[in-house]
Amino acid sequence: MRNRRKKPLDLTGLTIPTHIAIIMDGNGRWARRRGLPRQAGHRAGAENLRRIINACVEFGVKVLTIYAFSTENWGRPEKEVRGLMKIFARVLDQELDDLHRQGVCLHHLGDLTGVDPALQEKVRRALELTKNNDRLILNVAFNYGGRAEILHAVRQMLADGISPDELTEELFSSYLFTAGLPDPDLVIRTSGELRISNFLIWQAAYAEYYPTPQLWPDFSREDLYEAIVAYNQRERRFGLVPEEN
Ligand code: IPE
Ligand code: IPE
Ligand code: MG
Repeated sequence: MRNRRKKPLDLTGLTIPTHIAIIMDGNGRWARRRGLPRQAGHRAGAENLRRIINACVEFGVKVLTIYAFSTENWGRPEKEVRGLMKIFARVLDQELDDLHRQGVCLHHLGDLTGVDPALQEKVRRALELTKNNDRLILNVAFNYGGRAEILHAVRQMLADGISPDELTEELFSSYLFTAGLPDPDLVIRTSGELRISNFLIWQAAYAEYYPTPQLWPDFSREDLYEAIVAYNQRERRFGLVPEEN
């Protein structure tokens, strides 16, 4: 375990994004570069999550969404999927009390059907335990896909008998897994890939994107700070004309 003293970072004058979403990519490549099995990369990735959650609390981020497992990731070799499920279960066992103490409120984005019942139970317990915390909302996108989420919302709306005239963007958003939460301001993707991979495709319509070549296990508190600095240099226009000075 590293125990380096934290470098002081100057947050003065910086706008901290309310909601940061991260596509935690590159665990496999991180492991391969070290001649290790992919599972070692996933373990290192899970450890890194701890650092980034702490940094979000430190910086005052209100909502953090992490892409942990996509609906498409079930197509990976069975051994890798099993390994990932083991890590999720272990992280919940080992980190839940600490997260709770830290004031983290856990949310799940995705569908638990088809997930091992014991893991489902751990997730439910974690959501229940932390539901009144408000320091940081941590959305875990697990068995999550943006398209599946949209279909899920449409099905629910049909079942509720929503009529075409009633349907607004606000109403639609209230049927998504992120109901009641602000849209992401900043979407970070590690490992240098320049794609969305079915992540928050509705909610991130106007998010600022920040791709970084760092592989997820190496993405540090200082890298997160750099991403926030870069975010502060963006001009968010939302389709309007730039402000004249
Ligand atoms: C991200 O790392 C973790 C998950 C998708 C679960 P990858 O496993 O995709 O790592 P690379 O992209 O193969 O390096
Ligand atoms: C996106 O990464 C999913 C997660 C980080 C959980 P992938 O590695 O699965 O995405 P692709 O295959 O590169 O698009
Ligand atoms: Mg990947």
